[in-house]
Amino acid sequence: MTAAHDSAPDAPVPMHLRLVSSENHAPSERSAEPPRNGTAPAQAAPVSEEEFRRALAVHAAGVVVVTARPEGVPVGLTATSFSSVSLDPPLVSFYVAQSSTTWPALRLADHFAVNVLAGDQADVAARFAKKDIDRFAHPTRWSDGPRDVPLLHDVSAHLICRPHHTVEVGDHILVVGLVTSTSVSPAGRPLLYHKGRFGRFLPY
Ligand SMILES: Cc1cc2nc3c(=O)[nH]c(=O)nc-3n(C[C@H](O)[C@H](O)[C@H](O)COP(=O)(O)O)c2cc1C
Repeated sequence: MTAAHDSAPDAPVPMHLRLVSSENHAPSERSAEPPRNGTAPAQAAPVSEEEFRRALAVHAAGVVVVTARPEGVPVGLTATSFSSVSLDPPLVSFYVAQSSTTWPALRLADHFAVNVLAGDQADVAARFAKKDIDRFAHPTRWSDGPRDVPLLHDVSAHLICRPHHTVEVGDHILVVGLVTSTSVSPAGRPLLYHKGRFGRFLPY
């Protein structure tokens, strides 16, 4: 798999990669593991923020926009942390930053949609990561789906989910959803994110 970078050289760094410096961690915060057999566990120092970011940046990821309409107001945010979790039951997940201003509303929704972006939707990804704008205003194209969930147009797939589980993990919240319905566009090629840039998938 190769990702050809073709757009958005100034793409924003994902919020979930903006890390607190490990220099600020007290030694006691570095390991949650209790001592075993009376010996203290080896203290593995965390990598520096710079090193961690550089390593994560080479992992190409698909891009989704998670949408919902809690209390009648559409909300949504771009995420690369989307993942499948379980086949039976059908579970998927994403991570949202604890600092997200969208999460307090999103968490109230009884359903949400994962919109899997297509290769030509870098502009949609950038819009749903931008602060202080109406992400659903023109030129965003969307309509109401099942359970009033906002569905973005022209995406590769929609997965409608019921919230199943949330867990606080570090500075993020793991959100697991039970998939209740899906729709897939047969011609869909994915949008990818790699080294801070959007790109497309080129099959061998
Ligand atoms: C390519 C890309 C991937 C992102 N992935 C995530 C993610 O997985 N989780 C997350 O919380 N924020 C992610 N963000 C940041 C959010 O889209 C958004 O910018 C951030 O949540 C701030 O908006 P909010 O306050 O409305 O949440 C990503 C941004 C970009 C551009």
